[in-house]
Amino acid sequence: MKIPLAGVIGCPVGHSRSPVLHGTWLRQLGLAGHYVPLHIETDDLADVLRAMPRMGFVGANVTVPHKEAALALADDVSETALRIGAANTLSFGPDGRIHADNTDAYGFIANLHQNAPAWQPSHGPALVLGAGGAARAVIVALQDAGVPEIYLTNRTAARAQGLATEFGVTALPWEDRAHVLRDVACVVNTTSLGMGGQPPLDIDLSALPASALVTDIVYTPLETPLLAQAQAKGCTVVDGLGMLLHQAVPGFERWFGTRPQVTDALRMAVLA
Ligand code: ATR
Repeated sequence: MKIPLAGVIGCPVGHSRSPVLHGTWLRQLGLAGHYVPLHIETDDLADVLRAMPRMGFVGANVTVPHKEAALALADDVSETALRIGAANTLSFGPDGRIHADNTDAYGFIANLHQNAPAWQPSHGPALVLGAGGAARAVIVALQDAGVPEIYLTNRTAARAQGLATEFGVTALPWEDRAHVLRDVACVVNTTSLGMGGQPPLDIDLSALPASALVTDIVYTPLETPLLAQAQAKGCTVVDGLGMLLHQAVPGFERWFGTRPQVTDALRMAVLA
């Protein structure tokens, strides 16, 4: 019997936690399979993707900088990946066809359901900070979940305006990012601010109701200055590690045939 292979394709890829994550699940579940990091240069991506099914790969995760290119190279694309404009999960058919999906939106919402079960999308508008690839997945997730209104703000106004037009959300000037706080039920940081080595996200949460949820896609450190400020106010806070863990679930299930669980033990393994 052939042992199924999967991996994460990036450039660089050494920092990726995905091999530890999938490796932990394979071990915990006692499944035959391997998951490997694959450092692939942009010029080689198309050739590598075409060769992978013949090499025994059943699928792959895709990370920076290949997410948009992988979408363009796929034979079939899910509606969610198309809306986000990027692929993070590929599955290879027996005929070598490449199916592209994006599970970041699923991972974002699944993390909130697991760690903030009292929050409901219907509780009110959301404020999304940042307008990069992560913001696109978060907007799709919040819209699909039924959040009534999304305010989007970004340092570079043109990027926020572009996404606002594309997704039908409301762009706010970056200087006014705190102005809607009294009206929102959820705040999401999708910028890199607050990550180790980066400045903190500068926002005064005074006006935010204590009933609001604040979440960050940054997970190094787990407690960003934004989450610390929100927690001090009594808000519900959810760190970004769960999004990374949950986005991996659909791919693992598709490739290895068993749906894995996101547990505290898994968090510890991935942080170790
Ligand atoms: P990703 O695909 O991970 O979202 P990205 O496309 O590089 O990454 O986006 C990073 C986000 O962090 C952007 O919204 C970026 O704002 P700009 O569009 O103005 O570049 C935001 N960001 C990064 N450094 C920032 C800083 N010092 N102040 C404010 N926003 C910052």
